[in-house]
Amino acid sequence: MKMVIGNWKMNGNIDLLHSIVPTLLHEGLGSAVALCLPYPYLSAAHSLLKAARSQIKLGAQNVSEHPFGGYTGEISAAMLKEFGCRLVLVGHPERRSLFGETREVTAGKLHAALGAGLYPVYCVGETLAQREGGLARQAMVDELALLAGVPTDRYAVAYEPSWAIGGGVTATSADINDMHLFIKDVLGPGTRVLYGGSVKSHNAGQVLGLDSVDGVLVGNAALSASEFLSICHTAN
Ligand code: 13P
Repeated sequence: MKMVIGNWKMNGNIDLLHSIVPTLLHEGLGSAVALCLPYPYLSAAHSLLKAARSQIKLGAQNVSEHPFGGYTGEISAAMLKEFGCRLVLVGHPERRSLFGETREVTAGKLHAALGAGLYPVYCVGETLAQREGGLARQAMVDELALLAGVPTDRYAVAYEPSWAIGGGVTATSADINDMHLFIKDVLGPGTRVLYGGSVKSHNAGQVLGLDSVDGVLVGNAALSASEFLSICHTAN
């Protein structure tokens, strides 16, 4: 089953939640679909999914590297589990570029998530400058090293080149295939590798049709029930 994960980022509101989730439930989507919502909506979403006995998984977009303590504004992995989260995005390019998340912090978050039994979706990818400088693969090697020794069924990797996010530019099939095969080469053939970056209903078939693509991480298009549903139906 190819995964489809919606990442709302800091978008939407409670009304959108109450319109999108029932639409997804009506379609009977299964466990290959997940929604990574802003923290305040997790509880309401969990209740809706639980009441419908849905297989759709709930996730967060970030997690603290610390288990508890004086970290105002942070949310721990254990708290996410209490609110029904099964997965969490770690190292999203927006966290790295806009919030100065270093590799050390990302590593801490990865291990906090794994330690709590959450399924991290660990985001890696190159910047435009790195790609143009022929350093796309090199940019990922140190990031992927954080997963050395972790069983491949405990996490997924999302290849999210920052230049392809939000701007409507999707990486070509050849680029995606090349990078996904490289990630599987480094971490093992059983590694689940998702692609993220301007995936919409009109290009989902092309992306999900690649054997090296085990799913997609969807930003903007996850804010529309019809777009997201269409991508989910394309996936499986
Ligand atoms: P877009 O689909 O809006 O390009 O966002 C991709 C992304 O960052 C998903 O995490």
